[in-house]
Amino acid sequence: MPEDKIDPHILEQIRKLEEKYEVMGQDLSSYLDGLLYSDYLTYWDYIHLDTLMSLQTPKTGLKDEMIFIVYHQHTELFFKLILWEIEQISFHEDLNAEFFIDRMERINRYFELLENSFSVMVEGMERDQFLKFRMSLLPSSGFQSAQYRWIELSSTDLYNLTSPDLRAQVDPEDDAEKLMEAIYWRRGATELASGKKTLTLKQFEEKYFSSFLHRARKFRKKNLLKVYQNNFAKHPDQERIISVLRKYDLMANVYWPLAHYKSAVKYLHRDPVDIAATGGTNWQKYLPPRFQKVLFFPELWSEREKAEWGKAWVKSQLDRAAEHRA
Ligand code: HEM
Repeated sequence: MPEDKIDPHILEQIRKLEEKYEVMGQDLSSYLDGLLYSDYLTYWDYIHLDTLMSLQTPKTGLKDEMIFIVYHQHTELFFKLILWEIEQISFHEDLNAEFFIDRMERINRYFELLENSFSVMVEGMERDQFLKFRMSLLPSSGFQSAQYRWIELSSTDLYNLTSPDLRAQVDPEDDAEKLMEAIYWRRGATELASGKKTLTLKQFEEKYFSSFLHRARKFRKKNLLKVYQNNFAKHPDQERIISVLRKYDLMANVYWPLAHYKSAVKYLHRDPVDIAATGGTNWQKYLPPRFQKVLFFPELWSEREKAEWGKAWVKSQLDRAAEHRA
């Protein structure tokens, strides 16, 4: 085809491509050959559908185990997105309030979706089936979700993730290794009878402890609390900023944990095999936010709000149940 018949827009694109490849010392013509011979992209290749569909492998023949696996995987994918957004905020070279608020709103949306969808677990499986297939999964537990811990370590100072009753023994300025010794979640994986670390915890730390230290150090000056303190504590848009951060604190540390707690109560409550089914941990005294008292942004809450942490939600649930009965 003579050159004057070629769409000028396409000629312009070829010129730009030539410039792009020249900068890197590459030959455009070879790349155009590649384009000529390559296949058209399909949906299933793009999202790796076959691989994705091959990742659900139940350990038992109980049908509801599939729901349990798929829902955990779905949650981990959203944890991945939450980490993705946090990293864009933390390592932004020219961060402004609009970007910060927008990305925090995305994170809140992901957590909201996770909270609202927890009914898939709470109402969507047969309890008898759950109690059976759960025994084939011991000693694994969602407790071993490393992404959940990375989200925490990227959101606040490590000191804020230490057990409240161990705080007197550590200092915010301590090295990450010392602070990790007092991390709140160790308490959730301690054997009721002996006070020793559970196998669940031992295996978890063996695989991930160094990644936790690495992340705690990497985010020491870059976590979301620090980003707020260093950039937005006196910003004209402070009100909006505080509002998205408080919402995030509630989503991550009250609403999602309580939606999750409801599933533990539904499946593991009142049954003599309860403790065995959870690998021997004291989850009833560990999981409720009012015991954990994890807050990413303590300075954004009043003393009263901190003292009442996690209680308002329980009250609202009780009120709702009472309304239902009336
Ligand atoms: C029927 C559904 C579920 C039940 C009965 C349940 C039960 C429990 C229990 C009893 C614990 C305390 C630790 C232990 O004893 O193992 C725990 C911890 C945990 N589970 Fe689940 N879980 C369920 C679903 C999920 C799902 C879908 C996820 C999503 C990844 C998840 C993530 C977690 C996390 C992150 C922890 C640690 C919480 C913390 O340290 O505060 N769980 N779960």
